Amino acid sequence: MNNHAHDPIGVFDSGLGGLTVVKELIHHLPNEKIVYFGDTARVPYGTKSAETIIRYSRDIVKVLLKNKVKMVVVACNTASSLALDVLKDEFDIPIIGVIDPGAKKAMEVTRNKKVGIIATSSTIKSGKYARKIVQLDKNIVVTSQACPLFVPLVEEGWFDHTVTYQVAEQYLGVIKKNKIDTLILGCTHYPLLKQVLHQVMGPKVQLVDSAQEVALQVKELLTRDGLLRTRLGPCQHAFIVSDEPKQFQRLAVRFLGGGVKNVRRHVYV
Ligand code: DGL
Repeated sequence: MNNHAHDPIGVFDSGLGGLTVVKELIHHLPNEKIVYFGDTARVPYGTKSAETIIRYSRDIVKVLLKNKVKMVVVACNTASSLALDVLKDEFDIPIIGVIDPGAKKAMEVTRNKKVGIIATSSTIKSGKYARKIVQLDKNIVVTSQACPLFVPLVEEGWFDHTVTYQVAEQYLGVIKKNKIDTLILGCTHYPLLKQVLHQVMGPKVQLVDSAQEVALQVKELLTRDGLLRTRLGPCQHAFIVSDEPKQFQRLAVRFLGGGVKNVRRHVYV
């Protein structure tokens, strides 16, 4: 076993959404301790430039390293699209993003080779998901759609609201016309809209939630590198946020399905 096996896994996101990935990590790796960083003071990333997202992501990895993490999961789709390659070059620690696992899963799931991607504007603009899918199978036809209103709707808790259905109908029109059979939920917040998306897309379309795939890939990597934490028993996860912790704690329940303790604030200098 590697010396670092008992160190925590670092996970970060622009805000709360990455907790959907934490939920899957806890489910698939119950012995692991997690240190989560939510950049709540600087969210959203989905509308910002690559340069800014790279700078923010770099700051966060530095904070996570100070917390002695053994690896980093970039739970944010936007940061994975725009900053992952730079982070991998700059830091000497395993770093996993959410794009490759999601793209791989979609490639395995699709039967008619027509895949849709929904994500933030910056993720769609980067073209990362589409390129990865075509790289895996050049016969797959990809239709992409930015859905910027979904993030605020989720944060408002409007998972089943008439307005959310109307917005989804509007956004998904072109994707539906293209007769996709697989839809990648390319944003941390979208798993909370599964019910709406299922209804709007119809029962024949499979929804790919990259959070589950990421957890499985993290497990694979930790097993391969002898980094799995084998000590049994509950572990205290830690949450770091860049804005006021109270708001994070209040909304975290929606994403994690349970309350969060041990939240502290990081102040950028
Ligand atoms: N976490 C972001 C993502 O997965 C969504 C929220 C934001 O725009 O920062 O793309």
